[in-house]
Amino acid sequence: MLRKKLIAANWKMNNAPTGFDAKDSSYRTKSDVDVVIFPTFLDIEKCTKAELIVGAQYGRPEEKGAFTGDESMKQIKTSGCTYVLCGHSERRIHHSESDAFVAEQVIAAIDCGLIPILCIGETADEREMGQAKEVVKRQLETVLLATSHQLQARNLVIAYEPVWAIGTGKTATPTDAEEMHAYIRSLLSEELQNDMRIIYGGSMKPENAKDLLSQKNIDGGLVGAASLDPVAFGKIVNSAL
Ligand code: 13P
Repeated sequence: MLRKKLIAANWKMNNAPTGFDAKDSSYRTKSDVDVVIFPTFLDIEKCTKAELIVGAQYGRPEEKGAFTGDESMKQIKTSGCTYVLCGHSERRIHHSESDAFVAEQVIAAIDCGLIPILCIGETADEREMGQAKEVVKRQLETVLLATSHQLQARNLVIAYEPVWAIGTGKTATPTDAEEMHAYIRSLLSEELQNDMRIIYGGSMKPENAKDLLSQKNIDGGLVGAASLDPVAFGKIVNSAL
């Protein structure tokens, strides 16, 4: 089993932090840890020019057309991106993205050679009602079914991001997160199970990163707020070494 840790910075609707492009920037990928950044579309070009590994926060499945304000997976690939986020909860909430639409995004991303990071996770209400696993299973299986012909462990990453832990300062305990990651892994086919990376997102910070990243089934982090501080982000990356 060889799953290289992946630490991703999701800058959301924020400018690239000062010094992101420095030679010794914490946003640069390392030999032992994949580091990927997700800037706004406006900052993608300067990040690729700075030779960082870059992803887009969203991509539309159609190649081109009348979709005001959107960018296609193909355009994202052409702009030099390697990764793309699919189905982040903020997109599901603010843009009403359905599981089926997220699956279309994943298919289009893989088809044009991008690596999608599929975001799944339950809300606080769903967790309270005991539906966390059911929700995560539905979100994941819609995509797995649609992409079964294309999937290899290296062309998809799964991010478990419990919605109640995003931007709230509440982190899933390492034990709770590990339990869900192990469950998610159990839903994967035998060929994918050992090698597919499942990363955690939701208030990851230097103080909790080591405990989360040392769990058996947690293969990295998708970091929001703490990724805007190069020093804090660097500490998280170092916790993965
Ligand atoms: P926070 O780290 O700010 O909770 O955000 C997590 C997230 O949504 C990453 O995609």
